[in-house]
Amino acid sequence: MSQLFSELKVKDIVFRNRIGVSPMCQYSSNDGVANDWHLVQLGSRAVGGAGLIIAEATAVVPEGRITPGCAGLWNDDQIEPLIKLNNFVKQHGAVAGIQLAHAGRKASSARPWDGGVHLADKEAGWPIVGPSDQAFDQDGTRLMKAPSQMTKADIKNVQAAFVAATHRAIAAGYDLVEIHGAHGYLLHSFFSPLVNHRDDEYGGSLRNRARFMLETVEAVRAVWPDNKPLAVRLSVADWVEGGLVCEDNIEMAKWLGQRGVDFIDCSSGGASPAARSSMGDRTAEQVGLAGRIREGANIKTMAVGAITNAQYAEEIIASGTADIALMARHSLLDPYWPITAAQQLGVPTRDLMPIQNGFFVGTD
Ligand SMILES: Cc1cc2nc3c(=O)[nH]c(=O)nc-3n(C[C@H](O)[C@H](O)[C@H](O)COP(=O)(O)O)c2cc1C
Repeated sequence: MSQLFSELKVKDIVFRNRIGVSPMCQYSSNDGVANDWHLVQLGSRAVGGAGLIIAEATAVVPEGRITPGCAGLWNDDQIEPLIKLNNFVKQHGAVAGIQLAHAGRKASSARPWDGGVHLADKEAGWPIVGPSDQAFDQDGTRLMKAPSQMTKADIKNVQAAFVAATHRAIAAGYDLVEIHGAHGYLLHSFFSPLVNHRDDEYGGSLRNRARFMLETVEAVRAVWPDNKPLAVRLSVADWVEGGLVCEDNIEMAKWLGQRGVDFIDCSSGGASPAARSSMGDRTAEQVGLAGRIREGANIKTMAVGAITNAQYAEEIIASGTADIALMARHSLLDPYWPITAAQQLGVPTRDLMPIQNGFFVGTD
């Protein structure tokens, strides 16, 4: 009996299996509005058998986009195409999730394939904000500009934008919201001592640095339906001397659990150029850390990082390391990977496929 292909029910939402598609920026929206690319990209992964699909980092304010092509939910015009997309994803059996985000001092960048460096304010870019006023690369090697330090009014405005975007996510038909608290973006940058040098109640001690994330999550949970799961993605290690370690994130996970968070999605890195990236050479170690967070904070986890084979994904679930195994890059190579994994684990595939395919090639 495969654990990877066992159902999971969280609140009123049922995941048909434990395979999720990790959020992946597409850099392909116009003014934050999704289009046919997003429908096909995410829709094909629902057809491919995933239990959960988390849509890319979606900015709650325009200044919170990583690049001008990033997705957004800061206005009502952005809802309509997502309704169509989510209907399709759900019709094909996957839970539709969305990651709500603010990129903080890493916003206003060029698309990766255009170099990824900061865009000047006077060109396609915009002024950026952070917990403090240091640039992502303090030595200027990556051509990143300096953010302005957020005031308390700025903090409240961004939190209100997370709440407004959550209302729009409800209108768009999502069944899971994930708050982006990782990768050096705004919420993680407040939590990490590598970035946050404030001396008010949002800086200093671990609890003070956690305040922005906790208040934001509380505000979102207050409007997100009680019967639907809420996730938070954390960078469970900064991988840099003086940065966050797993124990700090176990504390954070406990605080988040007390505020009604159902899953911690365990990623890592991204706070500074010295911190390894979420796709760097320590990505695979995140999976083990998901197990430590799950045990230490007594909360469900999603594991992510170099998960590419069925037996390994099965072990992650069977060993109690995580409740959901997320894949990003391998899913780009093979959107139908869950069907391949089911075949390899001897799990029937007919019901995992749409009838148009399963009738002909599915197994019982
Ligand atoms: C094209 C691409 C876009 C990504 N965009 C996001 C994103 O929007 N939000 C996020 O939290 N992580 C993002 N990531 C990181 C992935 O979700 C994932 O954590 C990382 O790639 C490690 O998983 P993997 O080894 O299966 O690729 C992105 C990764 C890729 C390859």
